Amino acid sequence: MTAPSDAPGVRARRDDAVARLGAPHPRIDGPLKVCGQAEYPGDVSVPGMAHAAIAVSAIARGRVTTIHRDAAEAMPGVLLILTHDEVGGAIRPVDHLMQGGYANSSWRPLASPEIRYAGQIVALVVAETAEIAAAAAAALRIGYAGEAPVACLADPRSAAVPLTTIKTEHHDRRSGDLDAALGAAAVRIDAQYTTPIQHHNPIELPSTTCLWEGDRLTVYEPTRYVVAAQHGLAAQLGLRPEQVRVIARFIGGHFGGKLALSQHSAICALAARRLGRPVRLEISRRDQFTIANHRTETRHRIRLGADADGRLLGVGHQAATASSRFDDFAMEGADVSTALYAAEAVAAEERLGRVDRNTPGPMRAPPEVPFLFAMESAIDELAHALSIDPVALRRRNDTAVDPVSGKRFTTRPLLRCFDAAAAAFGWAERSPRPRARLRDGWWIGHGCAAAARPVKIGPVALRLSQNADGAVRIETAHHEIGNGLYTLLATIASERLGVPLDRVTVALGDTALPPAGISGGSSTTTSLANALADACTALRRQPEGARSVRLDYLPPGAKPAAVDDLRAGHIKLLTLPEDALAWAFGAHMVEVAVHAATGAIRVPRHVGAFAAGRVLNPLAARSQYLGGMSWGLSSALLEKTEIDPRTGVYMNRDLADYLVPTAADIGSQTVVMVPDADDAVNPEGVKGLGELGIIGVAAAVANAVFNATGIRVRDLPIRIEALI
Ligand code: MOS
Repeated sequence: MTAPSDAPGVRARRDDAVARLGAPHPRIDGPLKVCGQAEYPGDVSVPGMAHAAIAVSAIARGRVTTIHRDAAEAMPGVLLILTHDEVGGAIRPVDHLMQGGYANSSWRPLASPEIRYAGQIVALVVAETAEIAAAAAAALRIGYAGEAPVACLADPRSAAVPLTTIKTEHHDRRSGDLDAALGAAAVRIDAQYTTPIQHHNPIELPSTTCLWEGDRLTVYEPTRYVVAAQHGLAAQLGLRPEQVRVIARFIGGHFGGKLALSQHSAICALAARRLGRPVRLEISRRDQFTIANHRTETRHRIRLGADADGRLLGVGHQAATASSRFDDFAMEGADVSTALYAAEAVAAEERLGRVDRNTPGPMRAPPEVPFLFAMESAIDELAHALSIDPVALRRRNDTAVDPVSGKRFTTRPLLRCFDAAAAAFGWAERSPRPRARLRDGWWIGHGCAAAARPVKIGPVALRLSQNADGAVRIETAHHEIGNGLYTLLATIASERLGVPLDRVTVALGDTALPPAGISGGSSTTTSLANALADACTALRRQPEGARSVRLDYLPPGAKPAAVDDLRAGHIKLLTLPEDALAWAFGAHMVEVAVHAATGAIRVPRHVGAFAAGRVLNPLAARSQYLGGMSWGLSSALLEKTEIDPRTGVYMNRDLADYLVPTAADIGSQTVVMVPDADDAVNPEGVKGLGELGIIGVAAAVANAVFNATGIRVRDLPIRIEALI
C-alpha cells in the first residue's frame, strides 16, 4: 500500500520559500476557506440526493404509543418515513467509544418504541427537499406513555456512586491522612462549587450524506474520528470496513463534539439504501442539543488546610459528574487538580450519577475546565483567608513532583507562567483588599488562576511521497478541525525536506488514506509532528528521485498493540512517558469591572501566559490561545444549558438563549508564550496546546469578581443575579 490515493489535497498558493518551523505561517487553506472552496461535509452535493429530517421525542422517559403519519405521507415530495416499526433490529448495536466501541452515544434511534431521553430521534422523514422533509417530520402526530425522568445531578435520584465501582481502571488518589492534616491546619477552606450543563455550538451543524454504489457506502460527515465512524457504521450495517468510506476534509468547528460515530448516521445510510438514492440529513441547531453530546454538569467539594505561612498540609477533592443510563462516560479530573501543588495529605474521590439524558461527551479540556475551576477558586479563597498574595501562595506550594505518586514533572514552568503574566498584566498594582477600587461607578478587581494539562499522544499512520520533480504529498486520515493541520504538516515537510512550501500537498480526513486517530486531547500536533519528522528522515535515506514512505508511527514507550488499535478505529490517547508527568502549564490574569448599581460584569483585560513545549507555528498557537481565552470567558459568564427538572427538557436550545460571547464581549487580550524546552516529553518536544487556553479562565474571573466586590461566586456561570 504505497500508491498515493485519489483524495484531493490542499497546497499553499504561491509560497516559494522553504518554511521555517517556529516562524509564523498563515494557513495554507485560508484562501480555500475565504473563497468558499473548502469542502465541508455538509456542503457536498451529490447528484440525485434526497433530504432527511428527524422528529424527536417530547418526553424524557417512557414509550411511543402511536405515530399518526397520514398528514406527513400526503405531502407531495415525501419519499420515506422510518420509525421503530421500519427499522427495529436492522441496525446492530455498537458500544461507546470509551467502552471498546466506536459511538459517541450507544443509543440506537428507531430500534424500539422506548424513550430514554427528551429530544431522542423517533422518526426519520426523507423528501425531495429539506423543507418538505422538515414540514413532514413536524406533521407526524406522536403519542406517548410517559414516566417522570431524573433530569440532572441535582436530583438525588441520580444516585452518584463511586467511579471505582463503574470503571475498574479508575483509581481515586490518596496519600497521607487528610483529616489529620486538616485538623492540624491553621487555616482551612471547605467549599462546594458547581459547573452547569454546556453544549458545543460550532457554526457547522452535524450532518450526514450517504451515497451507496452497489454494496459500498460513502459518507460525508463532520466527525473528528473518520476511522471510528467507518468501523462503527460497518458494524451497525453488517458490512466490512473496506466497504465504507468516510470523508471529512474540513470540519467547521467542534469544541469537543463531533466525536467518532454519531447516532444519526446509520439511519441515514439505511434510508439511502432503501430508497436507492443518496440522502443527506442535517441536524438542526435545536436538535443538535440532544442528538450531539454535551458537557455534563459537575459538583465539587474542595477541602484545603495550610499552616500559618501558607504551606499546604492537606488537599481534598470530591467530585461528581453525570452520565446517561446507557453509557459510562466519565471525565476524570482529580488526578490533575490534586497534583498541581505540594501537600502532605491528598484525598480525591470521583462519583458518577445517572440521568435520563443523552450520553455527555468531551467538551474541550473536558475534566480540567470544571475541576480546576473548583480547585483554583479554592486556592484563591485560601490566599484571602491567609492574607497572602495568590501568586505568592502558589510559589510557596510549587512542586517538582506529584505529591501522591512521587513522579517528577518533565518540566514545571508554572511559576514562570505566573511571573510572565504578572509582568504583562501589572499584577503588582492589584489591591489585596476586596471591594477597594471604584472607578466611574464600576468595582474593579483582579484575579488569577493556573492552567495545567497532561500531554497526550497517539499512534498515527501516514504516507509521504516525493515525485522526481521534488513535489511532496502527505496523506493521513487525520482531520482539519480549524487548528491548522494542513499548514502544520506542509511546513514540517517543507523544512525537513528543503522544498518550497507550495510544492507540498496535504490530504486529510478520508478513510481511503492511512489510518489516524481522533483529533482530540490536544494530541494532534504532538503525534503528527513526531510521526512526520520520522517519515521525513526515512524518506531522505532513499535515493533522490521518485520515492515514498508508508509509516505506522508508534510513540516512544507505547505498546505495539496501539498500532492494531489504530487500524481498528479503537485508538486510546496515551500519556507518556509513564514514569513522569509531562504537562503543559499556563497562568491567567484578568481584570473585571462590576457595575455598582446593576451588577453587570465586563472583562476589560485578560493576560494568558502559557508554556506548552516547542511552538511550531506561533501564529496558529496564538490563535488557539485567544480562542481558548475567549471561550473561557464564555464559560465563566455566559454558557449554561437550562433544563426543566420536571420534564428533562433542555429549555434554551438556540443561539438566542444559549449565550456565547460576541467580539463586543471581549476586551483586551494578551498572549505570552513562555519558553518550555522539554526533551523528555517526546523527540520533537511538542506538548499540544489546543485546549490549554480555556483552562483556569473561569476561576481567574471568579477570583477577580471576589476581588472587585467581596462576593465569592462558586457556581458557574457568574451572572448579575449573584452580584446584586
Ligand atoms: Mo478534547 S474535547 O479532549 O478533544
